[in-house]
Amino acid sequence: WRQRRAEQSLAADLKHLTLPITFSLSMTETLCLIALDRSVIELGAGTGLLGIVVTLLGAHVTITDRAAALEFLESNVQANLPPELRPRAVVKELTWGKDLDNFTPGAFDFILGADIVYLEETFAELLQTLEHLCSERTVILLSCRIRYERDLKFLKMLRERFSVSEVHYDSSKDVHIYKAQRGSRRDDF
Ligand SMILES: C[S@@+](CC[C@H](N)C(=O)[O-])C[C@H]1O[C@@H](n2cnc3c(N)ncnc32)[C@H](O)[C@@H]1O
Repeated sequence: WRQRRAEQSLAADLKHLTLPITFSLSMTETLCLIALDRSVIELGAGTGLLGIVVTLLGAHVTITDRAAALEFLESNVQANLPPELRPRAVVKELTWGKDLDNFTPGAFDFILGADIVYLEETFAELLQTLEHLCSERTVILLSCRIRYERDLKFLKMLRERFSVSEVHYDSSKDVHIYKAQRGSRRDDF
């Protein structure tokens, strides 16, 4: 029932949100069975759709983006979560590679990113952020569309630091979901 309630609530509120549906919902299909009471951080949240859905699925979620995105993000989170679930979602500034001490290493079960691999100049800082946040038990999930050669470069950089596997490919949307973990771990969820 929790999933159905989340889907009904989402359907009612989608009109407030725009393009990110493709990347965020591809990720949600992967997460719907495992989110309950997990500690999650979303990077580059944009509208916040993914973080909102994962909160509706029962996780405790820190929803992050750059400072310039936070006002819109916060208003979306407030407008699309029922009051009883709002304490489960915290909106916080996280610019990749900056002020990482504001985030406790290893505090999260999952690190999520929907369509955040696209700017080559941010790749090093994004990896630094993933390395800071990630403990041995943390699972990173990134939904990506491989648009350019540089996107493959990021995956190569990711593989140099983490064990990476593709856990889902949605051919209708051309969206890949990659899982990354420290060391050689390849746990199922
Ligand atoms: C293509 S949008 C994706 C947004 C959302 N995740 C989605 O699926 O629609 C990329 C997001 O990454 C964020 N971003 C880009 N560079 C960033 C950086 N250096 N630090 C933190 N966030 C960044 C942008 O503000 C934007 O919200």
